[in-house]
Amino acid sequence: MKTTISIIKADVGSYCGHQLCHPAIMDIAREMLGKAKKNGKIIDYYVANCGDDLDLVITSDKGIDNKEVHGLAWDVFMEGTKKAKSLKLYGAGQDMLSDAFSGNVKGLGPGCAEMEFVERGAEPVVCFLMDKTEPGAFNLPVFRMFGDPFSTAGLVVDPNMQGGFTFEVYDVLGHKKVMMKSPEELYGLLALIGAKSRYVIKRVYPGPGNKVPTAEAAAVVSTDKLYQIAGDYVGKDDPVAIVRGQSGLPSVGEILEPFAFPHLVSGWMRGSHNGPIMPVGMKDAICTRFDGPPRVVALGFQLNNGQLVGPVDAFADVAFDRARQTALKVADYMRRHGPFEPHRLSPEDMEYTTLPKVLKKLEDRFQKI
Ligand code: F6R
Ligand code: MG
Ligand code: MG
Repeated sequence: MKTTISIIKADVGSYCGHQLCHPAIMDIAREMLGKAKKNGKIIDYYVANCGDDLDLVITSDKGIDNKEVHGLAWDVFMEGTKKAKSLKLYGAGQDMLSDAFSGNVKGLGPGCAEMEFVERGAEPVVCFLMDKTEPGAFNLPVFRMFGDPFSTAGLVVDPNMQGGFTFEVYDVLGHKKVMMKSPEELYGLLALIGAKSRYVIKRVYPGPGNKVPTAEAAAVVSTDKLYQIAGDYVGKDDPVAIVRGQSGLPSVGEILEPFAFPHLVSGWMRGSHNGPIMPVGMKDAICTRFDGPPRVVALGFQLNNGQLVGPVDAFADVAFDRARQTALKVADYMRRHGPFEPHRLSPEDMEYTTLPKVLKKLEDRFQKI
C-alpha cells in the first residue's frame, strides 16, 4: 500500500485580528475529520494551527490531488468560515477565494503540500507550518537539508546519500518549472532559489543510487500564491511543508538544524516586511508583535500504515532557545528601519501588497526632470 500524507491549510478567520486560529474552528475540524476517519474515508488526521492558519494533516490511501480528501478539507474550511462569521472573527473566510469546490483546492485559496510513497520499515516525517510569510521562506532551510554538507552531515558521511538530490523548482510568476541536480548543478540551483519570491522549491527527490527510490519525493512545499489567484492582495500565502527523514534521507535532526538560523523571510506585517523567522513550539505559535514576527512550527510523526504516531513538538526544545533570542534581536534591528527597505519589501514585491493603491494617488503630481 502507498500512503498519502497531505497538509491542507487555510486562514478562515482569526482572533484577535490576525493572531490566532479560534479553538471553536479547530474543534469543528477535529469533529469532521474524526467522522471521516471513522467512515474509512481517510486513515488518520491531526489538526494544528500556526498563528491564524488552520492546518489539517491528513493521511489516506487515495493518492495526491484526490477529490474526496480535498473535498473534505474544503468542507472543513467552509464550516470553519461559518463559525468564524458567527463569532465575527477577523478575516472570516479570508482564504476561501471561491464559493464552489471544483475537485481540488488548488487555485481556490487554501494551500496544500502532499506526497504519496511506499512506507519504509519506519517512516519519520516532519510537518512544517509557517505563518506571516511566503513559500520561498522554505528555500533556504530545504536547500540546507538536502544540499548543504555544512548543515547535513549525511551528505558527507552516509554512503546512501552520495547520489545527491534533485530539486524541482517552480517559477511562480512564469508558471514554469525546472529540475536541478545537486551537487552537480549547485551554483545554478542557488542562482535561482536565492530569488525566493519568484523561484520556489516545490519538491526534492533522492538522487540516483540513493536508498530511497528517485521517483518518490523526500520533501514537498506548498507554493500557492494568493495574489496570483485573486489578482489582488488578499493576505499572505503562509506555507507548509512535509519532509521525510532518516535511512538514506537527512536525519530528523538534520531536517531541523537549518532553523537554528532564523533567516530573513518576507511577509511580516501586511505582507510587506522582511523579518526573521522564529522556530517555536505550538504554544508560542501566536503572532503578536507587529503581527509577527514570522513563525515556524515543526511537528514530527512516525507513520504506521498511515496512522500518525505523534506529534513531537520539535521546536519546543530548549535547543532552539538561542535561535529564538537571535530572532528577537534581529526583529528589533529590522523594526528600527520603519518604512525603509530592506525591512519593507523591494518595490517588485510591494506590487502585490496594498501599496500601489497609495502610490497611484501621487501619479499626477510628478514633473519631468
Ligand atoms: C495577515 C497579516 C496582517 C495584516 C494586517 C492588516 O496575515 O499579515 O499583518 O496584513 O493586520 O490587516 P487588515 O488590512 O486586514 O486589517
Ligand atoms: Mg488572518
Ligand atoms: Mg496566516
